[in-house]
Amino acid sequence: MELVKRGAEADIYLTEWFGRPAISKVRHPKPYRNPDLDARLRRRRTLREASMLHMVKSLHIPSPLVYFVDAARHTIIMEYVRGTPVHSLPDGDIPGHCREMGRVAGLLHSAGIMHGDLTTSNFILGEGLFLIDMGLSRRTTKPEDWAVDMRLIKEILGSAHARVLEESWEALTDGYAQTMPRHAEVLRLVARIEGRGRYARVV
Ligand SMILES: Nc1ncnc2c1ncn2[C@@H]1O[C@H](COP(=O)(O)OP(=O)(O)O)[C@@H](O)[C@H]1O
Ligand SMILES: [Mg+2]
Repeated sequence: MELVKRGAEADIYLTEWFGRPAISKVRHPKPYRNPDLDARLRRRRTLREASMLHMVKSLHIPSPLVYFVDAARHTIIMEYVRGTPVHSLPDGDIPGHCREMGRVAGLLHSAGIMHGDLTTSNFILGEGLFLIDMGLSRRTTKPEDWAVDMRLIKEILGSAHARVLEESWEALTDGYAQTMPRHAEVLRLVARIEGRGRYARVV
């Protein structure tokens, strides 16, 4: 198996599943965590990710097909999505995909799900815009949780894609409003979180 990426939480390998290119995502142990707690967390996130990757398909959100889950080995084998993470696209191409990322966020939130790590690295542009990395996702109907998702992706836009932040955020919130009835409430909370940040820095 070829190691594609060694992440903070998981190693990503390129492999094959019955002749098809596949990704094997293996959550490795964190040495500083209590071993029992660590094993429980990795197991929970593995199972959660697999079920959520599947679940979002019913919301018409493209996601890799889950081929196999090995909870004891904290491993998911899933479809390899041919494409490029939005994060790695040239800055100028980012705004053009933000409306769709916003629509996806709105679909998740209006179905009572937060992604938990909503960043431009977790959308792969292939034959469609694929959502990945759902190990931290969870069911929630608290607008404050949805605001955390929106705040995170705005922060990434402002740091990794700063030159195009303004038009990207406008497109993102536009798409979000299309699919999320409570968009205004959530975006108000985002503004409030930002206000707090500024205040904290001043003080
Ligand atoms: N199904 C997949 N198809 C293609 N590339 C993938 C797939 N899953 C993950 N990757 C690549 O590996 C990277 C890390 O995977 P991810 O699930 O986001 O784990 P992490 O928790 O380390 O962020 C992604 O940003 C993407 O580049
Ligand atoms: Mg990721």
